[in-house]
Amino acid sequence: MTDLFDFSQRVDRYAVMGNPIAHSKSPRIHRLFAEQTGQRLEYEAIQVDAGGFTQAVGNFDSSGGKGLNITVPFKQEAWELVTARSARAERAGAVNTIIFDAGALRGDNTDGVGLINDLRNHNLAVAGKRVLLLGAGGAARGVLGPLLEGKPAELVVVNRTPDRAVELAAQFHDLGPVGGCGYPALGDRQFDLVINATSASLHGELPPLPDTLLADDATCYDMMYGANATPFQDWARQHTATTALDGLGMLVEQAAESFYLWRGVRPDTAPVIAKLRHEMQTA
Ligand code: ATR
Repeated sequence: MTDLFDFSQRVDRYAVMGNPIAHSKSPRIHRLFAEQTGQRLEYEAIQVDAGGFTQAVGNFDSSGGKGLNITVPFKQEAWELVTARSARAERAGAVNTIIFDAGALRGDNTDGVGLINDLRNHNLAVAGKRVLLLGAGGAARGVLGPLLEGKPAELVVVNRTPDRAVELAAQFHDLGPVGGCGYPALGDRQFDLVINATSASLHGELPPLPDTLLADDATCYDMMYGANATPFQDWARQHTATTALDGLGMLVEQAAESFYLWRGVRPDTAPVIAKLRHEMQTA
């Protein structure tokens, strides 16, 4: 007999797909958002093997899934797979959020707005600032558009492989004053806001930054995070940055924007960031 009040049938399903995925904080974050906002939903982490992404998304869709977060290494594949893209996803060349919408797969990218909102959490604005973005891979590409919308005085993309920086900057010229170069070309130029979008911190490494890089009262932001300060945060403190932040806030903020796209409700991010920070430091 069918149970008319079987609520398990009615819980909306969401997930994050990536590889590796076991240590993803997204399920924890979205469950905290759901609890806080009284939304009934399930959110799981799904590991997908190389070559299996399209199939995995199709399976999730046909099992009644409502939305997905996509992480490394599938953001570009997701961009190709979706049937419609937001303007910011189109620009970013990567999709980190999919909305299943009556047979359509709508793709968005909330990474850039996540960074901007976390900067705002710390009362940091981009307007009028000299901004340096380290790296020219997917992470850098995802935040370039929203950074330029913040109207910096200038934005320089610097990369170990200079051609990638020049090429990336050229694709965003129409949005504002942006250029690309290699590290030696920075010379003694100074910046107010330096954002690390390289994967160097993942390997305990540091890009080759000139000692004179930081202007007075500079902010450094590493898009990576961990229980301890990243090598870039250590460098920032040694070079007297006023503020040296990691990317935990950005992670929670990009998740909040995805949650809003799916549910139409904006969670309060501050208590979730604080909770995750505490859990990370006491784990
Ligand atoms: P993601 O999608 O995470 O950005 P990616 O596309 O592989 O990953 O890009 C990684 C970025 O980190 C690149 O800009 C890379 O520089 P190269 O283009 O020269 O490879 C940069 N990167 C990685 N390790 C680095 C290090 N030790 N020093 C400086 N830059 C580094």
